[in-house]
Amino acid sequence: MRAITISRPGGPEVLTWAEVPDPVPGAGEVLVEVAAGAVNRADLLQRQGFYDPPPGTSPYPGLECAGRIVALGPGVAGWGVGDEVCALLTGGGYAERVAVPAGQLLPVPAGLDAERAAALPEVVCTVWSNLFMTAHLRPAETVLVHGGASGIGTMAIQLAKAVGARVLVTAGSAAKLERCAELGADVLIDYREQDFVAEVRKATDGAGADVVLDIIGAKYLQRNVEALAVNGRLVIIGLQGGVKGELDLNALLRKRAAVIATNLRGRPLAEKAAIVAAVREHVWPLVEAGVVRPVVDRVLPMADAAEAHRVVEAGEQVGKVVLTV
Ligand SMILES: NC(=O)c1ccc[n+]([C@@H]2O[C@H](COP(=O)([O-])OP(=O)(O)OC[C@H]3O[C@@H](n4cnc5c(N)ncnc54)[C@H](OP(=O)(O)O)[C@@H]3O)[C@@H](O)[C@H]2O)c1
Repeated sequence: MRAITISRPGGPEVLTWAEVPDPVPGAGEVLVEVAAGAVNRADLLQRQGFYDPPPGTSPYPGLECAGRIVALGPGVAGWGVGDEVCALLTGGGYAERVAVPAGQLLPVPAGLDAERAAALPEVVCTVWSNLFMTAHLRPAETVLVHGGASGIGTMAIQLAKAVGARVLVTAGSAAKLERCAELGADVLIDYREQDFVAEVRKATDGAGADVVLDIIGAKYLQRNVEALAVNGRLVIIGLQGGVKGELDLNALLRKRAAVIATNLRGRPLAEKAAIVAAVREHVWPLVEAGVVRPVVDRVLPMADAAEAHRVVEAGEQVGKVVLTV
């Protein structure tokens, strides 16, 4: 088969559509013929040599895909050859075929094609697990979503609104904030021109946000805690602004607040399967009802993965960039 290989750590030009050995599904896995995969920011880090795949997993990038099951490994129940699926992957989605643990499969939601379905698993699993299974965001609470126009942000806005939360977002341009508003965001903060702590306070009568979903890390750590409400929960899932920060623990203590950091890719299979099962139960009905939609900015051929990385690196997209085989 062919897959996008990383010839050496570097820029988008190191991504090469090359002939590689076919994956073989192990016990509890299925082989999926990939129709489409989607780009995540983590793929850029993997390409640059900063985010190696966990040992024993596919060396090729790609954390989500949609396609059709073409073979079953030993011990797989509940899925059959020919099933149209999308999947949360530990890697290998930028390829013609990928072996996937059965617990990471989801049916393609009714009414969606493979290109749209491929844009869902990673962002939906990340957002659901962090906002609801980790931060326990409740209806009528307030959540601040940093990077509202990102793949993660566009899904966080929709899921938080779907459960009845109030959503504040940051983004770096008026055009991106407008797209966030179309998805349901209630309060729009241009992080290039406004102080997000002041804006959050203003929008919450001084109370702060109950939950902050953060993708910036160190650079925003102190200000995120300042933006939290009493009993607030800051969930850090991205480190685009660095890994080492300083935190005023007294500020955290006075608010009886929590700082949590999580990552999805490194979780054990059983945890990923539990997240996927929760997504199937709680989010798939919303997708099938059209309440929650994949936000796909553009679709490119898999062989043009380098161009897709250039687009995401430059921040030109809103939502997801999809790659088709
Ligand atoms: N821990 C996990 O399990 C997990 C899983 C998935 C993703 N993630 C992380 O989540 C983040 C988003 O991933 P993605 O694939 O959705 O990325 P993406 O679509 O490339 O989006 C990146 C976003 O970062 C925003 N941004 C940059 N600087 C910012 C700032 N100072 N303040 C607020 N926003 C800023 C950009 O907004 P503008 O363009 O408006 O500037 C852009 O929308 C990444 O950091 C990724 O590593 C973590």
